[in-house]
Amino acid sequence: MLSRQTSKRSYLLIFLVCFSMFSLYSSNDEDGSKLWFTNYQKAIINDNYHPGSIYINESSPTFQLILEELNYSMSLLFKQNIKTLNNHAKGCICVGTSNNGYIAESIEKDFFRKIGNEGFIIKYISEEDITIIAANTDIAALYGIHHYLRLLRTDPEQIIAQTIIEKPAYQNRILNHWDNLDGTVERGYAGRSIWKWEDLPERLNPRIREYARANASLGINGTVLNNVNADPDVLKPDFLRKVKRIADELRPYGIRVYLSVNFSSPEILGGLQNSDPLNPNVKAWWLKKVNSIYELIPDFGGFLVKANSEGQPGPQDFGRSHAEGANMLADILKPFGGIVMWRAFVYNPSGEDRAKQAFIEFKPLDGEFHDNVLIQVKNGPIDFQPREPFNPLFGAMENTALMPEVQITKEYLGFSDHLAYLGPLFSEFLQSDTYMKGNNTTIARITDNSIYGDKITAIAGVANIGSDTNWCGHHFDQANWYVFGRLAWNNQLSVKEIAREWLKQTFTTQPGFVETMAKVMMESREAVVNYMTPLGLHHLMGWSHHYGPEPWCDIPGARPDWLPRYYHNADSNGIGFNRSSSGSNAVELYAEPLRSMFNDPQLCPDKYLLWFHHLPWDYQMSNGRDLWTELCHRYSEGVENVRLFRDLWHKMEKFVDPRRYNEVSQKMDTQLNEAIWWRDACLLYFQTFSGMEIPPELDKPVHTLEGLVNKGINPV
Ligand code: GCU
Repeated sequence: MLSRQTSKRSYLLIFLVCFSMFSLYSSNDEDGSKLWFTNYQKAIINDNYHPGSIYINESSPTFQLILEELNYSMSLLFKQNIKTLNNHAKGCICVGTSNNGYIAESIEKDFFRKIGNEGFIIKYISEEDITIIAANTDIAALYGIHHYLRLLRTDPEQIIAQTIIEKPAYQNRILNHWDNLDGTVERGYAGRSIWKWEDLPERLNPRIREYARANASLGINGTVLNNVNADPDVLKPDFLRKVKRIADELRPYGIRVYLSVNFSSPEILGGLQNSDPLNPNVKAWWLKKVNSIYELIPDFGGFLVKANSEGQPGPQDFGRSHAEGANMLADILKPFGGIVMWRAFVYNPSGEDRAKQAFIEFKPLDGEFHDNVLIQVKNGPIDFQPREPFNPLFGAMENTALMPEVQITKEYLGFSDHLAYLGPLFSEFLQSDTYMKGNNTTIARITDNSIYGDKITAIAGVANIGSDTNWCGHHFDQANWYVFGRLAWNNQLSVKEIAREWLKQTFTTQPGFVETMAKVMMESREAVVNYMTPLGLHHLMGWSHHYGPEPWCDIPGARPDWLPRYYHNADSNGIGFNRSSSGSNAVELYAEPLRSMFNDPQLCPDKYLLWFHHLPWDYQMSNGRDLWTELCHRYSEGVENVRLFRDLWHKMEKFVDPRRYNEVSQKMDTQLNEAIWWRDACLLYFQTFSGMEIPPELDKPVHTLEGLVNKGINPV
């Protein structure tokens, strides 16, 4: 029992805690749980445009969702009750397919042909004051109303200015969850898995519906539920029933479910002697398994496979090629409409430059994959670094469907502690010109069929979603999920526009906020590059956890290609990885004029300089500085930019609710401290080789190298 005094003290404590919570979280506080469905209050709506009713004469679970979404959003936006009509009338929004007579009359047939199964048309008929949202399917109509609502909340003039025709760049727009079956998330920085496997199939996390709504609002139409380092158990009957429950929930939103599979499943689950893809018993096992999946989930999307990579099993274990492995699964999935996404993330501790290995393994297989196989290729040749040149496989496999994989979760960009908007990273990659077929052979155009034509298309993003209240750990990390979805829909969109869109829907439409924070977001990734790995440096992060700087990391017996030294090669002669023709010759994998450009340090863009070259510390940069001085300036610039972002955020206080304001402020303090940590660690360590002074005009390190090395973030 508590003594009287202790209990008094406890009451006082409870009072203080409550009081401080109230003062911290005021009534207009937002916790981030509403994602980009937060701000409906301040949308600028054209004064003459006041739709007040909805006319939908088709029915399906998806049309029901459309009705609910429109009702919910429009009543918030127009602050009135929205009527549901049985026929079209002045001032209504009419949503449907050509089965709706009014829509069939009002929209030219040709439009319906153009938009395919997933596109839509938004047409405002001013004489009748009716807005039509037309599509060939209910799912596409759902995309249409989300686009319409987005425009209402961000740029309403567009709705009345012109007929809008949209269709997606990629057929399959897929999130990859690296969620483990025990509820943890590999490289997840936002809490545990939202699937809550342990509750399924009986109970479904209500968040899954919100997740589906958010994805549908962007046009994301697929989700791989489990980690690429796949636990074979996911294919056990009990687990498949859990998967079915999720698939049923996601279906009305147009989202198909996929699974990562372990290539050794026939041995591990089926007790077979091997998992050789050419073994008839193995094929029979997979066929039976696939049959059982489709019995439960008729629209199951297919498999994602990480094979012969980082210890995962694969066809090479039996002397078979990636193509033989992928095709075996693809042939089995084909009659059901399923696909195989086969990852090209392969490398071994051989003598060969890691940046070349996927190319060496996969390029010779071009043309051997069956037509429902996609090769899923990470944006860069190493591993989701803050900056990498594009993976040279893009453009080099003309006869293979290649799908880009980007990482939304920020494994190498400060987890969910640092503000880094990935729009510029994604678009820099998608707009990279491979020159494979002359100018403008961009990765966007290669992978969306604009160039090589008529293949299955897809794009994947490794999700940053978890059970945290704000879904992604950092409020601004929601923007990375958002920008992935928007680019998967249209890979030509401006990422600055996307940032503005997101800010308006998530915070406020006030230009003072939107313009300032759009600028911060646009510069944030470059700041991370500068304070972590400027000028083409890469993989200087701590061992295995990939957080914080450890350029000195050395673990006896560790794989050399998992150690920073492999990548930076700093010594008294200089720094960088020589991938030019005098080194590993990775430049050779790129088409001209890139090959020559990357090969010559004088022509190589600064951002890739130390990716392709090992250069002396006194190497003269094009701006007249020597390499060491430039490196010091870049690291300092990264820190100064973070300081500036934090100061700008402080000026945003009047626009943002206290809770999100405070939570972002705290993260920004952390980011600034850690940017300084990065700068000091890298400069002090590299200085031991360069022997040169940090320029006096720059801030001096606040740490000592010894202190940082002993800081002990390395768990090994
Ligand atoms: C990185 C990451 C791993 C992940 C792997 C992959 O190496 O650190 O956690 O499994 O990528 O993409 O397969």
